[in-house]
Amino acid sequence: MDTKLNCALSRRAFVAGSGGFALAALVPSWPAGASAASHHTIIAAAGRVPLVGGEYPETAVWSYSGTVPGPEIRVRQGERLRATVENRLDEETTVHWHGVRVPNAMDGVPHLTQKPIAPGQTFHYEFDCPDAGTFWYHPHQRSLEQVGRGLYGPLIVEEREPVAVDRDVTWVLDDWRLRSDASISEDFGNMMDTGMAGRIGNTVTINGRLPDVFPVRASERMRLRLINAANARIFGLEFEGHQPQIIALDGQPVEPHAAEGGRVVLGPAMRADLIVDLTGAPGGRFRVIDTFYRDRAYRLVDLVYADRPLRDNLPDTPIRLPSNPLAEPDLATAQRHDVSFGGGMMGGMMGSGMRGGMGGMMDGGTMDGGMMGGMMGEMMDRMMQGMRHDGVWAVNGMSASGHVMEPMLTLSRGRTYLLALHNNTAWHHPIHLHGHSFRVVSRGGRPTRHREWQDTVLMAPDERVEIALVADNPGDWMFHCHILEHQAAGMMGVIRVA
Ligand code: C2O
Ligand code: CU
Repeated sequence: MDTKLNCALSRRAFVAGSGGFALAALVPSWPAGASAASHHTIIAAAGRVPLVGGEYPETAVWSYSGTVPGPEIRVRQGERLRATVENRLDEETTVHWHGVRVPNAMDGVPHLTQKPIAPGQTFHYEFDCPDAGTFWYHPHQRSLEQVGRGLYGPLIVEEREPVAVDRDVTWVLDDWRLRSDASISEDFGNMMDTGMAGRIGNTVTINGRLPDVFPVRASERMRLRLINAANARIFGLEFEGHQPQIIALDGQPVEPHAAEGGRVVLGPAMRADLIVDLTGAPGGRFRVIDTFYRDRAYRLVDLVYADRPLRDNLPDTPIRLPSNPLAEPDLATAQRHDVSFGGGMMGGMMGSGMRGGMGGMMDGGTMDGGMMGGMMGEMMDRMMQGMRHDGVWAVNGMSASGHVMEPMLTLSRGRTYLLALHNNTAWHHPIHLHGHSFRVVSRGGRPTRHREWQDTVLMAPDERVEIALVADNPGDWMFHCHILEHQAAGMMGVIRVA
């Protein structure tokens, strides 16, 4: 396994031989400005941040209030969040509160739920947060570039009675495509990314920094909130030597369980809350590796144990979260709808999305010429048909362009629906529904073990997944792939609840 390359750039000169210094210097710095104040001002603007660090120049980004990620917003469950967003970008923007069951007018979808915020203008968002959990916020206007350049931030809704832990830590994961001077590659929305796996980058950051070590102490219990803010990269994290328990997915509590195969899989926009018991010995060092794309595994960060334990034994207090006030779907009376996702390049050729194939595109490696030619030909055809990027991807045969469209489904308020999703493509897709959480009730025809609540469900190539929900939030809601290049190229629809 390739464990050296997280960043395409080499920071070895900086890291090598710095020993204790590295431990002190490279601790990811937690977002500044985390606050429980009831009113927040968020400024979207261009800025510079030291993504790579070492001798590398700062990276020009777009950020919220000067940091990447933007300020961590914390509210208590049931409280009202008030945020004034000021747009100092040169283009329109909006803010979407991903996963929060907001009233439709606060959902941040350009033209569908609000007029986009023009440069120099502000917009005031205000809504109650009914569910405790780990959420995030990001623009919904040209999101492939706005999110891709760094506009996103964590939103934590605290339980009234949280699980007892020594530390509550948020890791916002992102994947950047950087050039050799640490600047962002400008090729947003290119055909290759659009028709295949999306914009997979070459540098993975935690909280806006290229990480090296994360200090821990023996017998510490940590709640780790993972948020995947990447445009396209799917993470499959393994914590070597540890057995984290998943206690929430997409903010919603789940029966505590170990990740299947020891790998925490997170598609774009997805979150997982873990209880990580630090069972290693003082002075120990353990890798956190990302093995989702098996042939392109890399070391994300090392957990490094202090020389002295925090205490003698791990706590054995309960780790189950109290449930959120979600309406329980009544499957007996559910109305069923089929939803098929189609389009994209290459049939089954690189099948399980990029597995083993990413290298060619990522760091200048080569891909077989004939294969590339065939792919390009097919892609060109589709691009020509659709002019630009529209028409590359579709939901139930319809390819979206822009956010305003006739609803693909109209649901009666208060009823239960079972949506039978089929990924009829050769690629993974994280499918997100606004305004609701849904239960994932089956995969491949078999009931899921935990009937997890999600707002974004990751579908493997050709996979069938059934989700169930009570349509209890009125309005027009986006239903789309959260690989932002796929969304921009048509993999999006509107579900109306009336
Ligand atoms: Cu995270 Cu439609 O968005
Ligand atoms: Cu997709």
